[in-house]
Amino acid sequence: MKNEKEIRKVKCVDFTFDGQGLAKDDNNRVVFVPSLLIDEEAEVEILYKKKDFDVGKIKKIFSFSKYRINPKCPCSTSCGGCSFQNLDYSKELEYKKKVAIQTLSRIAGIDARGANIYGMEEPYYYRNKIQVPFGYDKQKRLVYGFYKIKSHDIVPITECAIQSKEHVEILKTIKDLIISMRLRAYDEDTGHGTFRHVLIRVGKVTKEVMVVLVVKDAKFASRHNFVKALVSKCPNIKTVVLNENPRKTNVILGNKEEILYGPGFIYDYLLGVKFKISSKSFYQVNHDQCEKLYSLAIEKAALKKSDTILDAYCGIGTIGLIASKNVKEVNGVEVVEEAIIDAKNNAKINGITNCNFVCKDASEYLIDKKFDCVFVDPPRKGLDTNFLNGLIKNKPEKIIYISCDVGTLSRDLSILKKDYEIKSIDFVDMFPRTYHVETVVNLILRK
Ligand SMILES: C[S@@+](CC[C@H](N)C(=O)[O-])C[C@H]1O[C@@H](n2cnc3c(N)ncnc32)[C@H](O)[C@@H]1O
Repeated sequence: MKNEKEIRKVKCVDFTFDGQGLAKDDNNRVVFVPSLLIDEEAEVEILYKKKDFDVGKIKKIFSFSKYRINPKCPCSTSCGGCSFQNLDYSKELEYKKKVAIQTLSRIAGIDARGANIYGMEEPYYYRNKIQVPFGYDKQKRLVYGFYKIKSHDIVPITECAIQSKEHVEILKTIKDLIISMRLRAYDEDTGHGTFRHVLIRVGKVTKEVMVVLVVKDAKFASRHNFVKALVSKCPNIKTVVLNENPRKTNVILGNKEEILYGPGFIYDYLLGVKFKISSKSFYQVNHDQCEKLYSLAIEKAALKKSDTILDAYCGIGTIGLIASKNVKEVNGVEVVEEAIIDAKNNAKINGITNCNFVCKDASEYLIDKKFDCVFVDPPRKGLDTNFLNGLIKNKPEKIIYISCDVGTLSRDLSILKKDYEIKSIDFVDMFPRTYHVETVVNLILRK
């Protein structure tokens, strides 16, 4: 009896924050069911139970939502990357906007009902970066893909509807070469083997491709022949970087890098400005939506030629360099050294002379200079308390807060709104088919 599967009938009434179906059974008990859409009724198998809810998987759908569509890729439910491949895109945008508005209201008491959401015309094949582990499945076959949620089992990907199509081709070529050259992927249990991860980036405008091979031991046999074969099969590859990560760790990249082919970086263009991108630098994954995001952020800032601005968490200097022609002076701060080297170089190659970039923790930076406008674009965890305190003390007239996590954004806004009026909020769908969304908030100092 113990192993008997529990099957229940449920009706989906909403989505969870991460895009799973939130369903209720006949007893009104909550069951989370991935890929079930609002209003759909289904038979689900209960996978596990918690105190306040259960988690199930669809066995059979009785009544289909009129917004259900066929997913574009065969891995859409298994790889865990997408939540909404089976949902009409206009409904996905509606849902993302609703969740973001609710979060801003619940955490920060902010009414964002007038906000716009900017989606993509073709919400597929937009990602310019992929990072996947290589390993072995239970049958000891070489696989690459994404980790199954809360495990290190690799769900193999054969296609991907949100990645640049080129990435999938290159990954397949790398797998074939590992097999034909009798090389090995890294085995997390034994610590043997070579290939741990592969990271690929492509410049949307330049079409230049960077491949980073993350290996346990940089001196693996026939590495030069491997790279020669790879670039001859995939001629768009502009550079191949070897990243050595010998540690037993979940951190993907190691510290030591060696360039095996090409210059070690690629270029791309955003809004007409040329950017050099290295393996360790942050670069937005959706080129076209990023241009929308930056245009919106800069437009909202209503910059003046006399302004001194700060681009905090600047990465390779993208926002500051694009905004530089509208202002007197740009200062950029970023904690990753390689990104700051790229930012300085990016100013040079574009002939921009009014930008200074500093490698520092952003929270240590706001001390001696007064800014007219501060752009903040922090990682998911949002702004730290020191930075927030420094920002409030600095009193810039305008703050443009760009955020990829509406929860931490709301937490920070609940503090900033005492000194700043929220003039506008907009959402930009940088990550179609997933539950993530980017927000731009325009704040003006209260008089
Ligand atoms: C969301 S990215 C934004 C980068 C850039 N604005 C862009 O759009 O390409 C956040 C950046 O913050 C940097 N970062 C993280 N913690 C930081 C800190 N404490 N101080 C400064 N920069 C930090 C990361 O390295 C990353 O480049």
